[in-house]
Parts: sequence; C-alpha cells; structure tokens
Amino acid sequence: MAREHAALLDALSSAVGPAQVLTDADLRAGYETDWTRRWHGEAVAVVRPETTEGLAAALLVCSGAGAAVIPQGGNTGLVGGSIPRAVAKRPQVVLSLTRLRDLEPVDTAASEVTVAAGVTLGTLQAHARASGYAFGVDLGARDSATIGGMIATNAGGIHAFRHGPMRAQLVGLEAVLADGSVVRRLPGLLKDNTGYHLASLLAGSEGTLAVVTRARLRLVPYLPRRAVALVAVGGADEAIALAGDLRRRQPNLLAAELFFDDGMELVLRHAGGQRPFGEAHPAYLLVEVDGASDPTPELAAAVEAAGALVRDALLAGDEAGRERLWRLRERHTESVNAEGVPHKLDVAVPIGRLAAYARDVREAIAGVAPAARTFLYGHVLDGNLHVNVVGPPPDDETVDGAILRLAIEMGGTVSAEHGIGVAKVGWLEADRGPADVAAMRAIKRALDPDGILNPGVLFP
Ligand code: FAD
Ligand code: MLT
Ligand code: ZN
Repeated sequence: MAREHAALLDALSSAVGPAQVLTDADLRAGYETDWTRRWHGEAVAVVRPETTEGLAAALLVCSGAGAAVIPQGGNTGLVGGSIPRAVAKRPQVVLSLTRLRDLEPVDTAASEVTVAAGVTLGTLQAHARASGYAFGVDLGARDSATIGGMIATNAGGIHAFRHGPMRAQLVGLEAVLADGSVVRRLPGLLKDNTGYHLASLLAGSEGTLAVVTRARLRLVPYLPRRAVALVAVGGADEAIALAGDLRRRQPNLLAAELFFDDGMELVLRHAGGQRPFGEAHPAYLLVEVDGASDPTPELAAAVEAAGALVRDALLAGDEAGRERLWRLRERHTESVNAEGVPHKLDVAVPIGRLAAYARDVREAIAGVAPAARTFLYGHVLDGNLHVNVVGPPPDDETVDGAILRLAIEMGGTVSAEHGIGVAKVGWLEADRGPADVAAMRAIKRALDPDGILNPGVLFP
C-alpha cells in the first residue's frame, strides 16, 4: 500500500517530519482497532503532528490528495469513530493528536486553563488540582482519553448533573478546518457574544467538522474532602428515588451511579474483590459527595433518613475505602469487554421513565436475542443508561435496533454521551428528524465540502 500512496506519504512527511508518519503495519495496529474490538480498518499512515501548524499542513496535504482524515485522541471512544473504516472509499490517514500536549499555567483570576488537544483528562486533573482547582468532567478512561476527543464527543461522565458535559466547560478553542485554515478564540472571555460560538458547535461534532487542537476550559474549586456511599436497593425505581432525594438534600452531591447485581458479580469475577454486603441485592446506587470539611457524617445521616429505600449501606471517607467502592462501578466496562466483543449502546430517557426503560429493554433484547447476556449501568441523574449486550456477533445490528428503538419510543435519545460514530449512523434521522439532519448536513457541507473529515461518522 505504501508504494501506491508514495506521493501522499512524501508530502505528509514534509508536513510533520518522516518520524511522525507511521506506515508499518505493526506500528499502525494500535490505531486501527477501537477499544471494544468491534470495529477495525486500515490506514495508509498514522500521522502524529507536534504543532498546530504541522497539523494544518498535513490536513492540506490530505485535502489535496482527496484522502480521508480520521482524527484520533486516546482511542477510548465506544462508537467506532476514531479508527479507519471500510465505508471510506479513499485512502485513510489517522491523524493522531497525542503529541499536542502543551499545558498552560492555570489562570487563577479567571478560574480557567488553556490546554492542547492531546492532553489526557488525568493530566489536566492533576494540573488543575496543583492550583486548588478541579475540572468539571470526570470519567473512567481518564488516563487515556484526551481533551480533544472529549470535546469531539461532548463527553458526559460521572459529574455531568452537577457541572454539565464537556460543552459546558468550553470557553473557547482553536481548531483546524478541512482547508487547513485555523479558527482560534482563546482569550478566556466567558461573556463573548461576538458571532457564532464555534466551540459549542464543535463540541459533539465527532471529528466531522474540524480538528480541535487547543481548548480554553473552565475550572471549579477543588473540594478536598470526599465521602462515598454504596447503597443496596430493591431495584432501579428505588435507586432513582434515592438519588433524587439525596440530590435535594445534599447540594454537594457529585456522582450518583446505578448498577445491578449481575454487573457486580461480573466485576468481582474479572477484577477480583469481595462482595461488599453479606447478601446479594437487586441493584446498587453509588453516591459521592465532596466538601471543604469531612462530609461523611452528613452523607450517613442523609442515607439513614431515606429509610425503607435503603436495604443496606456502606460508607467510606478514606481514599482506599472510596476506591474500593468505586471500582465496583468503574470496572464494569473492562469486565464486559472481557466477556466478548460487546454491543454497547448508550441511551438516555426522561428520568421518570428510566426504571421502566431498564425493565423493558431486557425484554426487548430477549425478544430478538434470547441467548444474549445484558449488563446495565449508568449515570442515573442524567437519565443515562449504558446497555451492554454480549453474545450476538459484532456485525449483527438487530439487538442494537431493539435497544435504540425503545429509547426513541420512550422520548429519549440514542446517544447520551458516547456519540453516534459509525455505530448508530442509521439512527440519527429516526432520533433527530429530517429537518435537524438537513441543517446538520448543510453545516457539514459548508465546513468540509469534499467530505474528507471522518467520512462515515455521524451521517450514513
Ligand atoms: P477518541 O476515541 O480518540 O475519538 C473519539 C471521537 O472524537 C472520534 O470520532 C474522533 O475522530 C474524534 N476526535 C478525537 N480527537 C479529536 C480532535 N482533537 N478533534 C476532532 N475530533 C477528534 N465517555 C463518556 O462520555 N462518559 C463516560 O463516563 C465514559 N467512560 C468511559 C470509560 C471507559 C473505561 C472507556 C474505555 C471509555 C469511556 N467513555 C466515556 C468513552 C470515551 O472515553 C469518551 O468518548 C472520550 O471522550 C473519548 O476521548 P478520546 O481521546 O479517547 O477520543
Ligand atoms: C461508563 O459510564 O462506564 C462509560 O460511559 C463506559 C461504558 O459505557 O462502559
Ligand atoms: Zn458513562
């Protein structure tokens, strides 16, 4: 393949330096398969620019050659959007952002920071914390997921009901368009109504409109004391009622995560550990609160006050104890992956219908794939449930359809936080309707007339 595309590869080498153009199959491999192993494709090269200028030059080269550009950050995305794919009938270049790693000092007067797109969430969190701040978004893939990828997917995560998703943290950004031009708005002006807010448009655009290279982000005060409670409950109804109750009575509620006993059992089997309670319970709600002083007694009182909703509860104020409880929730993703190639669907429904959805979706899955195994977990106060199915072959989309159709019927969305990617392109119009999709396509045509940016993602 390298010889066939020699001119393209030479021009890319001139743009970013030959050492940053990977063509060997072994070196490309990690960039060509997604985190779930459900999707795979082949790239002509993986290009890893170190500067915005180098990236813009590489984009111009691809645009001139009619090559498809697949932006990639940490490759932790769960909808197949960050790797090459068969539908793109032209040479594909993976544009890796991981070498754009610049971190500016925290602007303490503005409570903001500017970072390059390839900085991982974990690095940003540590950087912010050193100045007494926290970043408003957190998620389990924090050590690999990049700020650029999180903006592109408008990642939500475990603190979204308190601080909002990525879009809500974005004050401004720098991005390179398909023609190599650079849009940049980074002065850190929270109030800035001069024209369209391009940062908001690019949040959730999944690499189809521009490549994000830098972002100006809001920070929140870091409250150093934390307490976590794992509460055993009778089912999703009880978990939702308890989460709502705690949200009202605990203004510092930071996370409220739901999972079920089959998921807990799976985590213990794959990640090790002991059952936290003497007996199994149908469902569990994990909550975290933060504060300037120890919030454990207040959380204990709030859980106690919930009365009959609580079957059993464990509290932890120390770091090791909190981590022991959190791993029961956070290790779900890798434990499901260890069972086979999963079908991962990420829906949200109005919170009043979440318990009914959790019940009905199991039936809908059993109706089309009786031998499949289903694991549910999610961010309960966002109405966001992750539906994971193991068993059906990776390319059989029947079960995906049953799960997504039910979410739409219940007034929900087919993508709460992971995006559409290639996984759900067939469902965009069913969810958003023809007028919305026509407006989105018009934006896409205006910014990327030749369709070189992430073809096959978002639109069929
Ligand atoms: P990638 O996977 O590399 O890319 C994702 C998409 O963004 C692709 O379409 C890609 O083309 C595009 N893209 C990447 N970088 C850029 C850029 N600089 N400019 C333009 N487009 C770009 N997600 C949540 O929302 N909430 C969670 O709680 C959560 N938990 C997770 C836990 C685990 C264990 C794992 C594996 C994943 C989890 N995710 C979660 C999904 C994933 O981490 C997020 O989607 C994350 O935002 C992806 O970041 P990334 O850098 O890995 O992006
Ligand atoms: C989570 O909340 O754990 C993530 O979104 C990843 C997943 O859905 O497995
Ligand atoms: Zn999630």
